[in-house]
Amino acid sequence: MRHVIVTGGSRGLGAVMIEGLLADGYRVSTCSRKKTDNIARLEAHPEYGPYFFWQACEVGEADQVDAFVEAAVAWAGDDGLWGLVNNAGVAQAGILASFPNVESERIIKINLLGTIQMARAASKVMLAQKPSENQGGRIINISSIIGTRGYNGLSAYSASKAGVDGFSRALARELGRRQITVNSVAPGYVATEMSSTLSPSQLKQIVGRTPLGRLADEDDILNAVRFFLSDGARMITGQTLIIDGGIST
Ligand SMILES: NC(=O)c1ccc[n+]([C@@H]2O[C@H](COP(=O)([O-])OP(=O)(O)OC[C@H]3O[C@@H](n4cnc5c(N)ncnc54)[C@H](OP(=O)(O)O)[C@@H]3O)[C@@H](O)[C@H]2O)c1
Repeated sequence: MRHVIVTGGSRGLGAVMIEGLLADGYRVSTCSRKKTDNIARLEAHPEYGPYFFWQACEVGEADQVDAFVEAAVAWAGDDGLWGLVNNAGVAQAGILASFPNVESERIIKINLLGTIQMARAASKVMLAQKPSENQGGRIINISSIIGTRGYNGLSAYSASKAGVDGFSRALARELGRRQITVNSVAPGYVATEMSSTLSPSQLKQIVGRTPLGRLADEDDILNAVRFFLSDGARMITGQTLIIDGGIST
């Protein structure tokens, strides 16, 4: 059974991803700072529970990241580690001139440093596996179209996601010879708690400018993650796949 770590599975995109991947037959580990009812439900789920692992972990704190990955891999036993989906992230809007430095530091620490720390811990495990045991591996980093397009009032967030895309490209070169692929998935606007700060008029404007005429939903992002985790994506690495209904074309 293939084991995949998805960070930030307690709600939003991560919650849909972990349940979708459990339904696909993956063994799934996740972390978040707080345990939600959804996590408790999956732990007690008759079908998914035995293949599901959650542990509290603050992404951005290297020691906690290492401890979480170690615990998840120990739990998975002989299944080792096939994939990592770096999904945990935070956003905070504000005009830079009055944006507190501490907020910029928090965003960069969680979104960018946290992604690097997780990929470091996971790639250590993947590289230690014999290629024949697991046939390489997959690292998928959730970035955002805001990393390439920018957005008024989201400069620190945009910088963190542009950093994630650059990180994916460089790490893809480093891990390619071991058949470990590294790609970014860059959603446009998805209706989750994170995008709930957008006003109805902002949302209307975004939908109006989107060729496909709607916001993405969580399943649209899950489907891209499914593909990158699959054997069918084995020759694709170092890419950023934009899922935005065409708004950034
Ligand atoms: N929603 C969108 O429109 C959109 C668009 C483009 C990209 N994205 C990206 O997609 C990813 C998921 O976004 P979302 O909309 O699902 O966000 P969300 O609903 O706010 O969920 C974020 C998840 O990350 C976890 N998390 C946050 N900080 C963490 C930390 N330091 N350590 C561990 N877990 C942490 C949260 O749990 P705790 O708070 O309990 O820790 C939660 O499970 C993010 O990387 C985001 O940047 C979202």
